[in-house]
Amino acid sequence: MRTHLCGNVNEHIEGQSVVLCGWVARARDLGGLIFIGLRDHCGVLQVVVEPENAPAFAVAEKLRNEFCIRVTGQVRLRPETQWNPDMATGKVELLAETVEILNASAPLPLLMSDDDGEEVRLKYRYLDLRRDRLQHNLRQRTRLTRSIRRYLDGHDFLDIETPILTRATPEGARDYLVPSRAQPRSFFALPQSPQLFKQLLMMGGMDRYYQIARCFRDEDLRADRQPEFTQLDLEMAFVDEGDVQAIAEGMLRTAFRDVLGEELAGPFPRMSWSEAMQRFGSDKPDLRIPLELVTLCDAVRAVEFKVFSGPANDPASRVAGLRAPGGATLSRKQIDDYAAYVGRYGARGLAWMKVHDPAGGVAGVQSPIAKFLDDTAVAAIVEATGAEAGDLLFFGADTKPVVNAFMGALRLKLGRDLELVEPGWRPLWVVDFPMFEYDPDGQRYYALHHPFTAPAVPDPASLKAHPDEAVSRAYDMVLNGAEIGGGSIRIHDPSLQQAVFDLLGIDESEARMRFGFLLDALRYGCPPHGGIAFGIDRIAALMCNEDSIREVIAFPKTTTAGCPLTGAPSAVDPGQLDELHIQLKPEQ
Ligand code: AMO
Ligand code: AMP
Repeated sequence: MRTHLCGNVNEHIEGQSVVLCGWVARARDLGGLIFIGLRDHCGVLQVVVEPENAPAFAVAEKLRNEFCIRVTGQVRLRPETQWNPDMATGKVELLAETVEILNASAPLPLLMSDDDGEEVRLKYRYLDLRRDRLQHNLRQRTRLTRSIRRYLDGHDFLDIETPILTRATPEGARDYLVPSRAQPRSFFALPQSPQLFKQLLMMGGMDRYYQIARCFRDEDLRADRQPEFTQLDLEMAFVDEGDVQAIAEGMLRTAFRDVLGEELAGPFPRMSWSEAMQRFGSDKPDLRIPLELVTLCDAVRAVEFKVFSGPANDPASRVAGLRAPGGATLSRKQIDDYAAYVGRYGARGLAWMKVHDPAGGVAGVQSPIAKFLDDTAVAAIVEATGAEAGDLLFFGADTKPVVNAFMGALRLKLGRDLELVEPGWRPLWVVDFPMFEYDPDGQRYYALHHPFTAPAVPDPASLKAHPDEAVSRAYDMVLNGAEIGGGSIRIHDPSLQQAVFDLLGIDESEARMRFGFLLDALRYGCPPHGGIAFGIDRIAALMCNEDSIREVIAFPKTTTAGCPLTGAPSAVDPGQLDELHIQLKPEQ
């Protein structure tokens, strides 16, 4: 139907006759001449229709935005004064000979710009997808998966599919369930990840596996979370942490080179989970922001101010300071806004201190809590934070998880507001995670990764003796503050696996019922193995400089886990429910 693509027409083919297909990006009638911006997936070209060409002109007069058309004509140079340096096609235009409407477009239900709301963009996604932004994003995403496949193929990985209709896989979210018609009253669960199957593949002697796999998790959605998303999932036999990390680093480095032509400096730094929490209040620190939390427990242990001295003397709590360089110029209103901001992360207050004379003790600072502090405490705070004249200090005091959550969030916000975010890519391995998290309300342990992650101690007895102190052999890959991947060395010993289940409150009969097949497989010469999974959507969003992964997914869900385009999820025919032996509860 066509000889060229719109975006490829340029001065090198001046004088040639071409046939082009595409959509009308704009049509303007300028004093007798009609100018059409003709767009396809690779660019926009200016088409000119002259009134002397009456048949073509008559068709051109009918054109509206997003009509799908075919144009024949001759490529000609524009007068130099009309060159458009912003367009690859900006030195030329097409003088139309024929214009044919392949399909008209109804009046558009959206602007086809960034000003359209999310709901309307997703409802008319097929129009939204025509835009440059999404064309570019999906092309970059293709480059990413192509690069990953090529890299892993070159390292002897087998690309193996695993079931979508399966049993629950415990990654910590709710399952999506699918009722079975053949086996009434039974349900499949959609996989939260291929975790158990990839371990079974190692037990099946596959040595190196990968898959670009769809995962399903029914959890609260955010900018970086979708109910169905895509992982690059891999697993390797006879490996330790270093082997998996070397492959993962090589793969990521190659992908950034292939997609963006950028080099990630290596080897990637490693940081323990506890250091990340101490210094950044986060297990996915954004290292581009040169601000750090400082523990002030020693400095304020003896002060009169109970909000500080209480947590400072409690091992489960923390007093942390954060220095905003030059922040003494912030107004009271701006400071109050930060206090309101951290409230969303659980803060009960946000004490602050403007430092005018770092050596001046209480007299050298301005702070609503100055009256509760003495010169020694102020000097210790100044010393620990490295505060200089003109700085502002913020303080958080509470249990460790609360302080880390709100001071970590404050660090990110201040970094952005004060324009301190450094350019470039800052990858980081976060390692030495705790095995378990204790939930005081439920009085039980949770696995910080999944329950198949190996502890650093090799025997069940030492694990059970000190579960609180147990460190896992898990690792997360963090890039510019986003958790883009996570994995671990797995348990390959059935008694250690049962010990972990015991600590998680999964007794032997429950473990048999839920994971009997895995426990069985562990008994038949299971090789030591480990792996990792990367969030393809998150990596693609970072590469495309998008805040939300919805911008790099062709047909994403809304924040209420629905699809405005198809109207899913939807009610179903009562006959279908009947076949599945399902009866709906009446609405409350
Ligand atoms: P994990 O649960 O850490 O590990 O997931 C791996 C990576 O997948 C991405 N991710 C998501 N992306 C978009 N929307 C979501 N709802 C979502 N949830 C997770 C993140 C995350 O780092 N089976 C293990 C991997 C392993 O141990 O090998 C797993 O799934 O980028
Ligand atoms: P109050 O005595 O409650 O008026 O608090 C005095 C100052 O301490 C105010 O600036 C509060 O914002 C701050 N503050 C209160 N609770 C905390 C907390 N948990 N962490 C940090 N600052 C706090």
